[in-house]
Amino acid sequence: MAAQAVTALSAGLLAYSDRAEIQLARFLPPEDQAPAELHRAMRYAVLGGGKRLRPLLVYATGRALGAPLDALDAAAAAVEIIHAYSLVHDDLPAMDDDALRRGRPTCHIAFGEAMAILAGDALQALAFELLAADTALCVDAAVRVEMLRVLGAACGSHGMAGGQALDLAAVGQRLDAHALERMHSHKTGALIRASVRLGALAAGCGDAAALDALERYGHCIGLAFQIRDDILDIEGESHVIGKTAGKDAANDKPTYPATHGLAESRRLLAALTGEATAALDRVDAATGELAQIAHFVAERLS
Ligand code: IPE
Ligand code: IPE
Ligand code: MG
Ligand code: MG
Ligand code: MG
Repeated sequence: MAAQAVTALSAGLLAYSDRAEIQLARFLPPEDQAPAELHRAMRYAVLGGGKRLRPLLVYATGRALGAPLDALDAAAAAVEIIHAYSLVHDDLPAMDDDALRRGRPTCHIAFGEAMAILAGDALQALAFELLAADTALCVDAAVRVEMLRVLGAACGSHGMAGGQALDLAAVGQRLDAHALERMHSHKTGALIRASVRLGALAAGCGDAAALDALERYGHCIGLAFQIRDDILDIEGESHVIGKTAGKDAANDKPTYPATHGLAESRRLLAALTGEATAALDRVDAATGELAQIAHFVAERLS
């Protein structure tokens, strides 16, 4: 009998996402502090929605390698804040021009375009500031600098922002398999790989073989995550996925289903999930939560 699809998070993973919610609320500037409208827009973009996948990866990786939870909070919040900023900008009229995000009006619909751009800018800066300053993260200064570098590389022109540029440049075109994989592994994979890497760095992991296997795991689920996103854009309903269904076809976006078809996209997704869990078998630690996340990434409904 086929194993049941992992469409919901286990209690342990839900506890991580609850923790991320509390930490994000703590790290974000209060709404009543000036400039209040900007702070409201930042909190709106980050809080009250989202699967918190990237924090889950930081916590699950860090815990597997022996880090205490409070040493992982800053990295978990920083990656999610970068992710939330990327969504605000992704939804702007100049990019995907989307009105619905996490079941609510997008940031620029709620606050206006100028405030949404600034909220994204300020969120990006906040992520680095909190990672630089958090005192519960007890690693050597050199490790902290490496964490800042990893985050910077993941969201810059060789990471998420670069992937978004490839995405926009490819609108209206049919990318070949290689170009498509490159685009997805930049725009979405880079931050997911960084989440795993940051969890390992916060845990002080120096085992090169384990780091290599975790990098492979991150690569596979990062790509799998965007393939599932592309499939859900076709098969999902707006009220379930919390964003406008059918937007990729409407915007003539390069996606896995557009290049490979739905059946082959599903096959590639399953193969990547298998490869991700096989990579975990090479890590001498309790990686059960990371395996659960790999299945959730591939089988989620929103
Ligand atoms: C959506 O990311 C954008 C992509 C990178 C595909 P998520 O599906 O993680 O969005 P939230 O955070 O749960 O809303
Ligand atoms: C977005 O990809 C990737 C980001 C860097 C935000 P999509 O454009 O497919 O994300 P959704 O579908 O709008 O969430
Ligand atoms: Mg986009
Ligand atoms: Mg989009
Ligand atoms: Mg999408």
